[in-house]
Amino acid sequence: MAEIKLTFNGKEVTCEGDKTLLDVAREHGDNVPTICYHDATTANALCRICVVEVEGMRVLQPACVVKAGANMKVQTKSEKVLRSRKTILEMLNSTLDLSEADEIQHMMQDYSVDENRFPDAERRESDVKDDNPMYVRDYSKCLLCWRCVQVCAEDAQYTYAINFEGRGYETQIGTFFDKIIPETSCVLCGQCVAVCPTNALKPKRQYLLEQGMSANEISVMNTGRKQRKNRNA
Ligand code: SF4
Ligand code: FES
Repeated sequence: MAEIKLTFNGKEVTCEGDKTLLDVAREHGDNVPTICYHDATTANALCRICVVEVEGMRVLQPACVVKAGANMKVQTKSEKVLRSRKTILEMLNSTLDLSEADEIQHMMQDYSVDENRFPDAERRESDVKDDNPMYVRDYSKCLLCWRCVQVCAEDAQYTYAINFEGRGYETQIGTFFDKIIPETSCVLCGQCVAVCPTNALKPKRQYLLEQGMSANEISVMNTGRKQRKNRNA
């Protein structure tokens, strides 16, 4: 792939022509934040936290999907960019439980987020779904980044156990016909848990420890479950 030249924050850089603006930023030590993007999943530009300003383009561009072009003039830290990222974080914080989203908590500090910017925002409330031996789901922490759906599908596992359901504000991650996990095609591979940025998906053992169960009680419970399963096999 031929090399191209473009300008990042006023400095000329070169890169291969198939790179995204996020790739170029990272190659040059520019810490453009990401949330929905993950190295293991296909970029979908859902969260927009990675936006940058490109001269001549009317709106901010999501760096995780926009390809670098010859002679582009890109600003990754302009006032407009910083304000936009800060507002996205403030909107997420006002509607979701981000208390266990460590990376996003750091971003909120970096962008001096006002935690009370949208005091009347309707919060996403959901009971913890505890329906299988491997992980629990707490969708009051889910920011709909889609990473879990992607690794469950073509990006890794091809099991298609979970997907988006509902529309608009009601959109959430769910199973077909709202089935419990053991009644879906889920193979309990744990890849969805591994890519979740907010702990909306959490290993069951961690959840039980946080609920006050001891390691010994969890182990006794798991042994009992395995014995019942073997008896029924
Ligand atoms: S459950 Fe986690 S990985 Fe899945 S969409 Fe929500 S935040 Fe993203
Ligand atoms: S990280 Fe680029 S849009 Fe979410």
